[in-house]
Amino acid sequence: MPPRALAAAVHRRFRQRPGSKHIATESAIAGLVAALYRRRPARVLELGAGIGTLTAAAIDALRAVRGDGGFELVTVEDDPFCIAQLACNLADRAAAYELVTRLDDLDEARRFDFLIVDGGDPADPRPFHRLAPRATVFIEGDRKPQAALCEAALAGRRWIGVEVRTLRRRRLAEGRRVFDGGYRLYQLAPSFGERLRFALLRLRTALVWRLRRLA
Ligand SMILES: C[S@@+](CC[C@H](N)C(=O)[O-])C[C@H]1O[C@@H](n2cnc3c(N)ncnc32)[C@H](O)[C@@H]1O
Repeated sequence: MPPRALAAAVHRRFRQRPGSKHIATESAIAGLVAALYRRRPARVLELGAGIGTLTAAAIDALRAVRGDGGFELVTVEDDPFCIAQLACNLADRAAAYELVTRLDDLDEARRFDFLIVDGGDPADPRPFHRLAPRATVFIEGDRKPQAALCEAALAGRRWIGVEVRTLRRRRLAEGRRVFDGGYRLYQLAPSFGERLRFALLRLRTALVWRLRRLA
């Protein structure tokens, strides 16, 4: 399923679930799915499962590109309400992910090809030190403290990053229309093609900021 269609289906389902106030935006879900399709990672770590919106999208995307059982997805969530909702919302995908309540519960030696950040301790740099040589980092929304930690942790390695924003709008519960959220992407040891792609994304975001100001 194309990223936009998968994101729309997942977002439609999760926005009706209890605790949906802080779920990922549809634009961010689509960005995550597109990145997973492209990178096809085998080992994925997610910080902040919440009620499971990004987790569900990631599982569906990973199943499409790697098949059932072709990937490991570990998610970190410590809130009892979210953990209960996650179990309920992902009951049909329970075998596809592993839940831990603390990063410390994971073996020190475990490394990941793809890191999804939509929660977790905003002052903890450790997840960014668990990245495999060609890993990708996806940060939902505008998590500046974690973006800064990520960039500090990558010092000394070759990497490229971009902030992706959209002109798409969504309606809030009270009726107000706002621009949909975006995300940040980081690629370690980028290829020439990835550098080019990120450069084009940067240009696109610069244009989006300008058009948003005019809107
Ligand atoms: C914005 S919500 C995640 C939403 C989720 N991605 C979704 O779209 O449904 C952030 C989550 O991070 C979790 N969180 C925050 N700090 C945490 C920590 N130190 N350890 C584990 N989970 C944490 C919160 O409990 C919350 O559920």
